[in-house]
Amino acid sequence: MADSVKIDVQGFGPAKGGDLVVFVGDDLKLADTAASRVGSAGDLIGRLAPLERFKGKAQSALSIPMPQGLPVERLIVVGIGGEKDRKDLDWAALGGAVGARVAGRQATVLLDIPGVPHSVDGVADAVLGARLRAYKFERYKTKAKDGENEDGVTRLTFMVPDPAAARRAVKAREAVAAGVVIARDLVNEPPNVLSPEEFARRAQALAKVGVEVEVLDEKALSKLGMRALLAVGQGSARDSRVVVMRWNGGKDRAAPVAFVGKGVVFDSGGISIKPGGGMEDMKGDMAGAACVVGLMHALAARKAKVNTVGIIGLVENMPDGAAQRPGDIVTSMSGQTIEIINTDAEGRLVLADLLWHVQERYKPKFMIDLATLTGAIMVALGQEHAGLFSNNDEIAQRLSAAGEATGEKVWRMPLGPAYDKLIDSKFADMKNTGGRHGGSITAAQFLQRFVNETPWAHLDIAGTAMGSPQNEINKSWASGWGVRLLDRLVQDHYER
Ligand code: BES
Ligand code: MN
Ligand code: ZN
Repeated sequence: MADSVKIDVQGFGPAKGGDLVVFVGDDLKLADTAASRVGSAGDLIGRLAPLERFKGKAQSALSIPMPQGLPVERLIVVGIGGEKDRKDLDWAALGGAVGARVAGRQATVLLDIPGVPHSVDGVADAVLGARLRAYKFERYKTKAKDGENEDGVTRLTFMVPDPAAARRAVKAREAVAAGVVIARDLVNEPPNVLSPEEFARRAQALAKVGVEVEVLDEKALSKLGMRALLAVGQGSARDSRVVVMRWNGGKDRAAPVAFVGKGVVFDSGGISIKPGGGMEDMKGDMAGAACVVGLMHALAARKAKVNTVGIIGLVENMPDGAAQRPGDIVTSMSGQTIEIINTDAEGRLVLADLLWHVQERYKPKFMIDLATLTGAIMVALGQEHAGLFSNNDEIAQRLSAAGEATGEKVWRMPLGPAYDKLIDSKFADMKNTGGRHGGSITAAQFLQRFVNETPWAHLDIAGTAMGSPQNEINKSWASGWGVRLLDRLVQDHYER
C-alpha cells in the first residue's frame, strides 16, 4: 500500500531531533562508535534498565524520553540478546523491531552493534525488515478507529560506516521488499475485486520495471489445449487467464529458470463445495501466483542477471450449471486424461497444464511451482515450513539453504511409486485425488505426472502464505511468503 516508510542511509554523524536508536546486548553495553555518539546519556541506560526490567533481550527495547545531553526527543535502546543471538543476528527481525518502536516518527538508527561485525547485506536486511514490518492493508478501511491507522509517515535514517556500499545493497533489497508488498497486496485483495482479468491487469504493471508480460485469454488457452486448467474455471462467470512474465537479465539464449504459480482467485470448492466456515480465506488461493508476480518484480527491479519465466494460472473455482462435476474426465495439455473425483482438488489441474507448457515451450534449467495446494500440508507441517517436493536433490538442497538464510523455511517431503499408484484411475490415466492419507503427497505425485526430465520443485504454501503466525517482519494476514526465498535462491546460484 502507500509508502509509509522513508529510508535514507548515511555515514555516522550527529542525530538531531526525533528518536535516536542504538543497540545493546544482554550486558547492556554500547559498541564504541555508538558510545561516543551518545556520550554521557549512555549512563542512563545502566541506571534505567533495572527500573524498566530491560535486559537487552533480542527485540526488546528501552525508551528514554528527553535524554539529558542529547539533542533528540527519545533515545531508544534495542536489545540484541546474548552471544547466540548475536552470532547469527537476524538483521531483518532487528529492522522490524526498530520499525515498530519508531513507527510514525523521524528516527536515526545508529547501526553500530556490539559484538556483531558490520555487514552491508545486514544493513539491507534491516531496511527490508523495517519496511515489511510497516506493511498494512487498509485500502478498504474508510474509518480510522482510535489508536489504529494513526502512524503516518516513518522517516528512518540508518547511519553506517560505509554508506555508499550500503546504499547499493539497500537499493537491491528494496526491490525485494517491494516484491513482497506486491504479493501481500494481491493476496489481501478481496475476490470480488481481484478477478482473473483484474489480476492479469495488475501483473501487466510489471512492464514498468522491464518485464515482458503476455496475457493469454480463454481462446488462446483453448488453442494451446489447456483443458484441465479451463475446466476449473468453467463454473465461474469470470473468464480464466494465464499470464506469462519474462525477465531476461542473463546471457543471450541461456536457458531460463521458471516459476509457476497457482492463481485460484477464489476457491469455493466448486460442485464439491467447501463448508462455509472460513471460506472467505479462499480469496488467498492465488498466493502462489502472487508470489510469482512479486518475485518477477523483485528480480527485474534489482536487474538480476538471470533469464526468468514466470507463469500464473488465474481461474475461479465456482459451482454453477456449467461447472465441472465429479465423474468428468478432462484431457490435459499433455494428452493425459484426468478423472475428476473432487472438484475441490482444482489447483493441481491448473498446475498440470502450466508445468507441461513451461517445460515444453521454455526448456527451463529448472521449474519451481508455488501453490496453496492442500490443507493436508498444515496437518503435516503446521505453518512454520512450506512443504517441498522435488525430483532433484540439488535444487531441493539449495531451496532448503535459502530457506534457512531467509527464514522462509521449507521441509522436504517424500515422493515415490507407492504414492503415485494411489492416483491411478479406473476410467482415465489418473484421478485428481488420492484418498484420505498423505493428501499433500498424492497432490505432488499428481503434479509430477506432468514433469518429464526437467528439475522441478513444488512448494505447498497453504500454511505459510496466509494466516500464518505473525513475526517481527509480518503483521499482515498475507505474508508474501516465497518472494524472499526464491530471490535468494536465484541470487546465490543462478546469476551469471
Ligand atoms: N485451496 C485448497 C487448499 C487449502 C486449504 C489452501 C486451506 C489453504 C488453506 C485446495 O484447493 C483444496 O481444496 N484442497 C483439498 C484437496 C482435497 C479435495 C483432495 C483439501 O486440502 O482439502
Ligand atoms: Mn480446492
Ligand atoms: Zn484451491
